[in-house]
Amino acid sequence: MEHKNAFIITGPTSGIGYATALELAKYGTVIMVGRNQDKLNQVKKDIEGIGQKAIPIICDISDIKSVRQAAQQIIELQLPIGGLLNNAGIMQTKVKKNAQGWDMTFATNHLGAFALTEALVSHLPDGANVAFIASALEDPERKPAKIMGMKGARYLSAEASARGEWQAGGSKMAGIDAYATSKLCVLASTMALARENPRLHVNAIEPGITRGTGLGAENVNAFVHFLFGYLMSIIPPFSKYSSTPEKSAKVIAKVLTDKSGKTGIYFDEKGEPMLGSALSRDPAFQERVIAETRALLQKV
Ligand SMILES: NC(=O)c1ccc[n+]([C@@H]2O[C@H](COP(=O)([O-])OP(=O)(O)OC[C@H]3O[C@@H](n4cnc5c(N)ncnc54)[C@H](OP(=O)(O)O)[C@@H]3O)[C@@H](O)[C@H]2O)c1
Repeated sequence: MEHKNAFIITGPTSGIGYATALELAKYGTVIMVGRNQDKLNQVKKDIEGIGQKAIPIICDISDIKSVRQAAQQIIELQLPIGGLLNNAGIMQTKVKKNAQGWDMTFATNHLGAFALTEALVSHLPDGANVAFIASALEDPERKPAKIMGMKGARYLSAEASARGEWQAGGSKMAGIDAYATSKLCVLASTMALARENPRLHVNAIEPGITRGTGLGAENVNAFVHFLFGYLMSIIPPFSKYSSTPEKSAKVIAKVLTDKSGKTGIYFDEKGEPMLGSALSRDPAFQERVIAETRALLQKV
């Protein structure tokens, strides 16, 4: 097994990111981008416990200034980067704003990940892998999401999303329009960035309905959160897409360490190619999302 590359991961302190950080540690140094020093120190200890190396970088992914500072710190490490994983993400029922006054979910899931990638792209060596964790909730036709009354992404524009405005007729569940729209932008940007950067390999991954993570945990009490995750893993059609952080980590690490040159692919929870929503697959829409995202980020 090679140990020459370093891998950057956002959100390594919980759930899928934690399991993936431990998995990636088998392939090289893990550069852990997170907002909580104590939690990062604990993950560092766990990685060192299996004889591997980890470097914590403090960063609030929702705050674009903090993201750019973190990117600078990573560049200054001068490590050969094998892969960048944009994993950090949130699903919230209460509307919150980031440091720039933008919708917290959109800023964390899409803008922060995009800004970090933009700041690092030119510093990544040829053949490096960039991966984004997307979500099938962006797709209005996705069966499990439809059953739960979710309506998929509700994109108006990047500016409108930053203001927390979504296309009318969305989900009745609080926070879902923001989450689904942010993930549509993640997926659309992945495909546009893959086209723009042929010397890199840029892909997206839907990790599956992954129980036992912190996603959405702040919205309900711990028992309901646990029960929900458990039921999802045994009731069809949800069970078909069910995963665990450890299973997701294996799939994600495979994509991030892949050397076969695959790019512009959306992988499912088993590591097989899948289709996103029709909108996410439209190249004109993909270009529009990155153009609007860049224009928005230029304001910071
Ligand atoms: N679980 C699922 O079923 C599922 C399905 C599809 C997609 N996903 C996606 O998978 C990714 C990981 O989610 P998860 O389920 O593993 O959730 P999780 O356990 O809640 O992990 C989220 C991670 O993101 C970090 N994070 C959140 N906001 C941040 C911020 N402002 N700055 C820096 N770090 C921040 C968290 O840090 P702290 O520890 O400091 O809070 C944590 O490490 C997300 O992108 C999510 O949308 C999950």
